[in-house]
Amino acid sequence: MSRHRISRRLAHDAAVEREELIAGLQATPATIAPKHFYDELGCALYAAICALPEYYPTRTERAIFDRHRDAIAACAGRGRQFVDLGSGDGAKALAWLPVLEVDRYFAVDFAAEAIAKSLAAMAIEFPGIEMQGIVVDFTRNLDLGEDLGQRPTTFFYPGSSIGNFAPDEARRFLRDIHRHCEGCDGSGLLIGVDTKKDVARLTAAYDDPIGVTAAFNRNVLRHVNRILGSDFRPEAFAHRCLYDERAGRVEMHLEACRSQRVALPGTARDFAAGERIHTENSYKYTPEEFAALLRDAGYASLRCWQDEKGDFAVFYAA
Ligand code: AVJ
Repeated sequence: MSRHRISRRLAHDAAVEREELIAGLQATPATIAPKHFYDELGCALYAAICALPEYYPTRTERAIFDRHRDAIAACAGRGRQFVDLGSGDGAKALAWLPVLEVDRYFAVDFAAEAIAKSLAAMAIEFPGIEMQGIVVDFTRNLDLGEDLGQRPTTFFYPGSSIGNFAPDEARRFLRDIHRHCEGCDGSGLLIGVDTKKDVARLTAAYDDPIGVTAAFNRNVLRHVNRILGSDFRPEAFAHRCLYDERAGRVEMHLEACRSQRVALPGTARDFAAGERIHTENSYKYTPEEFAALLRDAGYASLRCWQDEKGDFAVFYAA
């Protein structure tokens, strides 16, 4: 028998989400949090990004996982419960469930539609695994204690999603996960992080020649329109991407092609021609920098695997 259930932690947050979005749009520079990229079309566009030759992180991480799966599994241990943070379509977790002999799987994501779809499919494929979905903005707070209980847990945070956090927030988030691991032998974190490299390769990965990333970036305006009832015109904003060497991050922006007024609930936002909305930071780390961050967050035992070119790093931290 396949079984899965989904719990939502968002219902009472909807008003807060809207307020935050409006405040971000009214600020100078205007901002939209990257979690809003992932409506149904946004998830599909992100999957398309992962298939782009220029976007190396996903396939490089997959190659590291494929090559070192047994060694990584030996580190993480078998028979744990598995917490898939930012599970999306669940594709990245699939290969781990059998090798790690997972008995309980948690899909944790902000994208409710993605969780519903992926869990329904996975429950059929893995009838022996208890499946649970949690719709929550875990970037806000990661309090899963009641769901997880005191059982050895493998936390899974692949794809360099950690790059969306500024380093201080990343440390806090990693510490939150560590707190869940403490006092429970056999718990730990399997995490992937994109490394610092040649600027041209970094920016090419976020500004592809056929415009998939541009569509992904501009689609956030449609999603915001649905959330707020605003009237952003995606065609009136251009995709911009740059690498801030000092901060060690790729930035994505949406740049107003001409001056324009956008209606927001009860108010309006005027954009000057060339004015930008900051939509994403994607921080890059050397393996040494990321190891230091993990140590600061409380992890004493670290293992790292990389591809031959050093384009990506996978850590198991406990
Ligand atoms: C999903 C946050 C890992 O930062 O590389 C891809 C998102 N943005 N192309 C990243 C993204 C533009 C991606 N993460």
